[in-house]
Amino acid sequence: MYTFYLVDMVSHWLLTGFILTCLFQVSIQANVVPSILLQNSATNNVLMPATGLGTGGYALTLDSHGEHWNDSIAEKSVSLWLKLGGRRIDGSFSYLDQVGIGQAIRASGIPRKEIFITSKVGPSGANKNGVPLGGPLGYNDTLKQMEQVLGSLGVTYVDLLLIHWPYDAIHAPSSEKECNGNTSTEMRLCRQSTWKAMLQILKEGKARAVGVSNFALQHLQDIIDMGEMIPSVNQCEFHVFWHDLELLEFCKRHNITFNGYSPLAAPDFGPWSLGWNESLLELPLVKLISQRYGKTAAQILQRYSLHQGVLVNPRSWNEEHMRENLNVFDFELSDQEVMQLNALSTKKPNVCTDPRELP
Ligand SMILES: *[C@@H]1O[C@H](CO)[C@@H](O)[C@H](O)[C@H]1NC(C)=O
Ligand SMILES: *[C@@H]1O[C@H](CO)[C@@H](O)[C@H](O)[C@H]1NC(C)=O
Ligand SMILES: *[C@@H]1O[C@H](CO)[C@@H](O)[C@H](O)[C@H]1NC(C)=O
Ligand SMILES: *[C@@H]1O[C@H](CO)[C@@H](O)[C@H](O)[C@H]1NC(C)=O
Ligand SMILES: *[C@@H]1O[C@H](CO)[C@@H](O)[C@H](O)[C@H]1NC(C)=O
Repeated sequence: MYTFYLVDMVSHWLLTGFILTCLFQVSIQANVVPSILLQNSATNNVLMPATGLGTGGYALTLDSHGEHWNDSIAEKSVSLWLKLGGRRIDGSFSYLDQVGIGQAIRASGIPRKEIFITSKVGPSGANKNGVPLGGPLGYNDTLKQMEQVLGSLGVTYVDLLLIHWPYDAIHAPSSEKECNGNTSTEMRLCRQSTWKAMLQILKEGKARAVGVSNFALQHLQDIIDMGEMIPSVNQCEFHVFWHDLELLEFCKRHNITFNGYSPLAAPDFGPWSLGWNESLLELPLVKLISQRYGKTAAQILQRYSLHQGVLVNPRSWNEEHMRENLNVFDFELSDQEVMQLNALSTKKPNVCTDPRELP
């Protein structure tokens, strides 16, 4: 449904720039990034900007060829992003750079309510030395991590809080019995008690919306079966090579906003590189479309996601790239181009591991 919403916004913006602000209550005048109204477990009027800055550079993966984000890099990058008009920041407790994000936000002088902060609790695997990233699942452990999230950012609330990964008892042992087991029943009970904590956090006003990340269909079903409010957002890997269109349709049907990560499929060549070294930016079809619109390959790849109603979190510390990432709302791909790009998924490499393998 919100596919059309985005497309509508774009055409309105093209016709009469100012209308965007009036029609869609986008409070941010400085940029033209449209926003999506979050539903389900969200308080009223939570507008999530379509493009956010990814900040997950995994400082602990020291052998990585990717960008190593730490607090000082996050501070510099977030400052730049805010200066250029970006208003959404995608963070996680596990990225180990939230102190820097908080410093940049305070130094910007931009009112807190005009900035959209996403953070995540729960497990996120481990680095190559076995050092766990993120924390455990479970009711009490989630509430405890939320205090750490707010403390590191130096804020009283986040706009969106997600459960980072649907289960990982090996790297993140929990104080809760179910969250340390390895049967499907235990995993299901663990996700459900963790979700109860998320709803408690929402109720206490420490998050304006709560959701999940890397949840496959069966994991979402565990939450839906509780009969309570369901997630407002599911953030999953989504790009030309790797896109689960069945999951996307399911989320749309349930009004769960789909937030994609790794829109350019640029892997951290760390523990999760999976030996993959092909760049989407160099694909002949992407280059061809890029020439057709006079836009960069990175811009084409972001439109590919946005066209399908998928919000993007491109990570960058480069000013030129940030400008490009904020400037993808003045053109549209055709349905046919998106279909052609979707067809490239036969190659199926992915940046992260596949959560569908978890019961
Ligand atoms: C962050 O990383 C950069 C680049 O590797 C390095 O120069 C800087 O000292 C690091 N800062 C901190 C606080 O670790
Ligand atoms: C959470 O902690 C409280 C107080 O320490 C305890 O009574 C409760 O059993 C714990 N809940 C779970 C689900 O472990
Ligand atoms: C999973 O269950 C098996 C069988 O009960 C047990 O041997 C194994 O140690 C368990 N693994 C974890 C990570 O709990
Ligand atoms: C989704 O949102 C629309 C518009 O607010 C509403 O009409 C519809 O009932 C919702 N569907 C579900 C499954 O919540
Ligand atoms: C990419 O990986 C393939 C297969 O492992 C290898 O043959 C090729 O040389 C690599 N290319 C680059 C640019 O690293």
